[in-house]
Amino acid sequence: MHAITGITGKVGGAAARALLASGQKVRAVVRDGYKARPWAALGCEVAIAEMEDADALARAFADCTGIFVLPPPCFDPLPGYPEARASVAAVRQALKVARPARVVCLSTVGAQAAQPNLLSQRSLMEEALSPLPLPLALLRPAWFLDNLAWDVAPARERGVLPGFLQPLDRPMPMVSTLDVGRVAAELLQEDWQGRRVVELEGPARVTQHEIAATFARVLGRPVQAEAVPRQTWGALFREQGMRDPVPRIQMLDGFNEGWIAFEGDDASVRKGRVTLEDVVRQLVAG
Ligand SMILES: NC(=O)c1ccc[n+]([C@@H]2O[C@H](COP(=O)([O-])OP(=O)(O)OC[C@H]3O[C@@H](n4cnc5c(N)ncnc54)[C@H](OP(=O)(O)O)[C@@H]3O)[C@@H](O)[C@H]2O)c1
Repeated sequence: MHAITGITGKVGGAAARALLASGQKVRAVVRDGYKARPWAALGCEVAIAEMEDADALARAFADCTGIFVLPPPCFDPLPGYPEARASVAAVRQALKVARPARVVCLSTVGAQAAQPNLLSQRSLMEEALSPLPLPLALLRPAWFLDNLAWDVAPARERGVLPGFLQPLDRPMPMVSTLDVGRVAAELLQEDWQGRRVVELEGPARVTQHEIAATFARVLGRPVQAEAVPRQTWGALFREQGMRDPVPRIQMLDGFNEGWIAFEGDDASVRKGRVTLEDVVRQLVAG
């Protein structure tokens, strides 16, 4: 039995579907029982737990061989990252109680970076879980291709791909959440020991211009990548409702300046199968 947190989301859902396709048993860990109904219909057990509730998580993880930890996304954290600290402490406590055979934890490219930024939330998680006496795989995927969901409307309506990753002609590693979930499911089924870092990107690195050209092909209209000037980001993100845009800007700087990157060399980074065009077609189809 594998307990999958975040199963109602993209990566957790992909991991669970891959496990079910391999004939594995899955326990759907959800915070809202109503959302578990499709998973129960697929034969999953259901456990209810918030990621900040150590006791509920320990019950959800009990008697499982593998645990998939999906840290709740938080794009606008309070200073000091209290949201991430709360879920990390609860997960750590629950794992100490449940003692599964292995844990796969979703982290991120650049979790090893020392400079503060939005991804420091995952650095905290890696630091807190690494000392546990359990086999632990820290899965560090690249930037999600699925983030392009935000670009469908500007591409379709204005023919513009707003570029925050700069320069626009720099190839960036990106990966589909389908590949991330599939690799998480593989790691849960393999036999290994100790602490591992698994870095993952898609089949090819892509520039912002290539992304715009892909949208153009799929939408059947011209689409141009346009760099969003850095000095406008703070006001723009505040307009979009963020309380504090600084961690997100620090993260974008990290990607653009190259200090958010894979820790291992190119040969050590696993490659996914899902292409940019696959993802854009699926997002445009809605
Ligand atoms: N975006 C990127 O480029 C990128 C790159 C590398 C790594 N990541 C990591 O990927 C993760 C996001 O994965 P995703 O795209 O699959 O996310 P997602 O589709 O937004 O799904 C988030 C999942 O977390 C659950 N959740 C949120 N808060 C919760 C809480 N307090 N207690 C219990 N469950 C909670 C949600 O449940 P509900 O359905 O109930 O809301 C949902 O199942 C983040 O940890 C992020 O750091 C992202």
